[in-house]
Amino acid sequence: MSQKELFETTYHWIYPFLKKFYDLSGTLTPLAGEIDLNFKIETNQGEVFLLKLYDPNTDLDFLDFQEAILKYLNVESHKLPVPEIILNKEGHSTSVFKEDEFNIRKTRLLSWLDGRLYNDVNPQKENLRYSLGLFCGLLSNSLDNFDHPYAHREYPWDIAQGLWTQDHLDLFNSEERNILDYFLNQFSSIKQQYDLLRKAVVHNDANDYNCIVSEDLVDPQVVALIDFGDAIYTQVINDVAIACTYAIMGFEDPLEAAIPLLKGYHASYPLQEDELEVLYHCIAIRLVISVTKARINKLSDPDNPYLQISERPAWELLRKWIRINSEYAKYAFRDACGFSAHPERERFDQWANQRSFSLTALFPTLTKQEVYSLDLSVSSPWLGPASEFNNLDWFAYQIGQFQKENPTKILAGGYLEPRPLYTESSYDKIGNNGLESRCVHLGVDFWIPKKTPVHTLFDGEVVIAENDVGNKKYGGLVVLLHNEESFSFYSLYGHLSISQGANLKIGDRLNKGDLIGYIGDSDENGNWVPHLHFQLMLTLLDFKTDFPGVGYYSQKSIWESMCPNPNALFKIRELDQSQVPNKEDILKKRQAYLGKGMSLQYREPLHIVRGFGVYLIDQNGRKYLDTVNNVAHVGHEHPGVVQVGQRQMGVLNTNSRYIHPNITALADELMKTLPKELSVFHFVNSGSEANELALRMVKAATGSEEMFVSEVGYHGNTNGCIAISSYKFDGAGGKGAPENTHVFPMPDAFRGKYRGEKTASNYCDEIQLLLDNLHANGKKLGGFIIEPILSCGGQVELPVGFLENVYPLIKNSGGLCISDEVQTGCGRMGKTFWGFELHGVIPDIVTIGKPLGNGHPVAAVVCTEEVAKKFANGMEFFNTFGGNPVSCAIAAKVLQVVREEKLQQNAHEVGNYLKTELKLLAEKYSILGSIRGQGLFLGVELIDSDGNPTATQTSYLVDRMKDYGILTSIDGPDHNVIKIKPPLIFSKSNAQFLLQTLRRVLDENAMHF
Ligand SMILES: Cc1ncc(COP(=O)(O)O)c(C=O)c1O
Repeated sequence: MSQKELFETTYHWIYPFLKKFYDLSGTLTPLAGEIDLNFKIETNQGEVFLLKLYDPNTDLDFLDFQEAILKYLNVESHKLPVPEIILNKEGHSTSVFKEDEFNIRKTRLLSWLDGRLYNDVNPQKENLRYSLGLFCGLLSNSLDNFDHPYAHREYPWDIAQGLWTQDHLDLFNSEERNILDYFLNQFSSIKQQYDLLRKAVVHNDANDYNCIVSEDLVDPQVVALIDFGDAIYTQVINDVAIACTYAIMGFEDPLEAAIPLLKGYHASYPLQEDELEVLYHCIAIRLVISVTKARINKLSDPDNPYLQISERPAWELLRKWIRINSEYAKYAFRDACGFSAHPERERFDQWANQRSFSLTALFPTLTKQEVYSLDLSVSSPWLGPASEFNNLDWFAYQIGQFQKENPTKILAGGYLEPRPLYTESSYDKIGNNGLESRCVHLGVDFWIPKKTPVHTLFDGEVVIAENDVGNKKYGGLVVLLHNEESFSFYSLYGHLSISQGANLKIGDRLNKGDLIGYIGDSDENGNWVPHLHFQLMLTLLDFKTDFPGVGYYSQKSIWESMCPNPNALFKIRELDQSQVPNKEDILKKRQAYLGKGMSLQYREPLHIVRGFGVYLIDQNGRKYLDTVNNVAHVGHEHPGVVQVGQRQMGVLNTNSRYIHPNITALADELMKTLPKELSVFHFVNSGSEANELALRMVKAATGSEEMFVSEVGYHGNTNGCIAISSYKFDGAGGKGAPENTHVFPMPDAFRGKYRGEKTASNYCDEIQLLLDNLHANGKKLGGFIIEPILSCGGQVELPVGFLENVYPLIKNSGGLCISDEVQTGCGRMGKTFWGFELHGVIPDIVTIGKPLGNGHPVAAVVCTEEVAKKFANGMEFFNTFGGNPVSCAIAAKVLQVVREEKLQQNAHEVGNYLKTELKLLAEKYSILGSIRGQGLFLGVELIDSDGNPTATQTSYLVDRMKDYGILTSIDGPDHNVIKIKPPLIFSKSNAQFLLQTLRRVLDENAMHF
């Protein structure tokens, strides 16, 4: 009978049974189980129990064992929550349930543990895995002195007994068999050592259906383990392996996913070094058992899904696991438990401490000894943008200049330096938290002339002699093995000459002082400026023809242990002096020096030191896809923009009182994009200054300071701008609207005062009302200011027809219309170059800011001839920085780039694609209440089922997106709108990554109500 049928037949009998033995009645829910039938019972009094109906063939000794272990943990335990056995009316721990005349089941009633299953938790973050390890360790600790004869049984799920699976390899196809064979052979080869490991009774099945997790949706913790049915006396490390096996399924990088669990376990139950030696193999064997069991079960009980529940993820994991080097895994496990990742590391350090080598021994023809430490880290301003450091001639020139400035020194450095140099996609991978880049340099680079001979510092044997061909590869590469008395290590020499050298072959033996080769030229060293990459290693892992010279930041401590600092040999002080300020120091100083009103973004603020296209890069080389910084309009540090700025800065930067072509060239560029009516320019330095000047123009042209502004509008940080920014004066610390400022309701058709598609006229009526009131008070209107899409309002698109109707109202009453294009301008809207064009209106004044300088402070005010004439009333307009040649060169270039790289078109195409896909996503996830915006200026408003804003979920989502390497920001009066406004070079594949990550986060528990 299948389990389903069993549940059905049993069901009817349970109610009278419960009444008879336990005097209980309530609702029954069947639960998953491998062999036994399990029911959840919820009584009418609100109590909850678990009823276990053991398989009719269940061994009585097994029942006794279960009782003993639960009693032991409950009575003698160390306060670990485990289920308690409820005695029946007769005081027995077991009752007998007669299913029919032939099937008699023993049953037990257990207390219910509150919480949810680990399997139901999404995401299963590091903290959760740590807590799982911690709990399993506590349990092992508690069971340390427990024993029972039944724990010493034969059991197929015991890793120690896992070789039984060898007899079932014929159930698998050849690809599967190869994998299983590989792991079984490896296990057999370590079995002797493994058999000697410490043993105890362990839970033996901490899978995701047996772990109970707290209800906390943001930071859940494992609070209990249930089902001791698999408990057995075996190697303690097996328990860790089992917990790891299930907790790491589904992760891109399962080894890394295991680390927090291991740390947690080790914190509560310290593991031993020899146990960590075998952990990789134990995890593999648990998987081998799991897939073999599933295959056997499929034949015997095809209808029980529980029996195959982990087969697919187990295979996925097996296929990933086999690609992980077992030696590396061992080092990662050792590192997690606080041992030196490489076991010989301490020996190496002692050896190196007792010795000292000179650079002359490495480079006998160089007479210099002193070192100039070269900063090639991510934040190094010296390196400039990628377009420069990827230019070999430029790099060579820069190095040459440095060398000239420091003629007595060898330029060198780079050990453990996160560098931006490795821009090839082969250095990137998708890890557990999104994109990861291999960027931490593992050796020391010596920037010395080509053809410089390189000699060995120690006797050694050649183990690699290769031409590692390819851009940014090693070119000529030699690796030597050095055997010391009690340990051995390797030294690596990269970027050697191919044409000229010692022609070394594998197996050649070199004596201390022998020639290894010569420094190669760029065409033979992977297209680098001539230098030696010198690295030490305590292992080659299984690399045969090369060895990584850079590693992932997340694995830094492991690589650091495997690859000691080459300066341990030379002990040159300058080589170990990092010039890069660390995040904590900067934070402390920030707190001490800066105004408290200046906030940092994100719960865990970012230390961003470099921009590159659509990415911001932190000090550790982590790349974040940037959908926040619309200021970096044409891409962070666009090479063309950077170059014109640098060049002009080197020639002249002064004010607009001299004749200079740059200011008019910028005006020319702007003219190409604007309607003919808007033809007079004033250049300033920021959006605030632009709006401040616009306000002066209003006053000069109309004689009035009365302004109509939108609720939640923002126009800048100066006195005048704050006075027209409801976002500020109605927000925290604000004192409400000043006398001359008249606020109309935010024209939001989604959650505003008037809703739906045809609300334009309602909002227009509000303006008419303000006008009537103003006139009734004997006042005259100065101006009306609004953004074409309200950014701080939460990317609110103005209802169709609103501006079209309001502009004539304003103009007819003598007021001026200002379009604040500080966020929306310069092609971002996609469909149009300026936001006001979306509405078919022509403002009197346009203010332009953020995108114009791609990060450089430059802004502009454009107005009609009429306004300009009235403004020019005799008072000179002078601005020290506004319109200077550098700013103008930069802004003109930005506009050219938008045109030449067709970025408005890109905003249109990618923006439309993204908006359409977001709308599709909103059909599936009802929390996405409104998708809106134009081009690459989009908003996603999050609401609950009653249409209320969900600020908590919104900030959760933004933080989680950041965890996965995507920067988004929040706005809107209720802090529930995600703003998407990336650099305009944002591509369709960037959009796809954004959507994929968004989907992933939307599936997480905290996003559901
Ligand atoms: C719409 C709008 N106008 C004006 C400003 C002020 O610009 P700035 O910060 O360059 O002074 C901002 C800044 O965020 C803005 O969003």
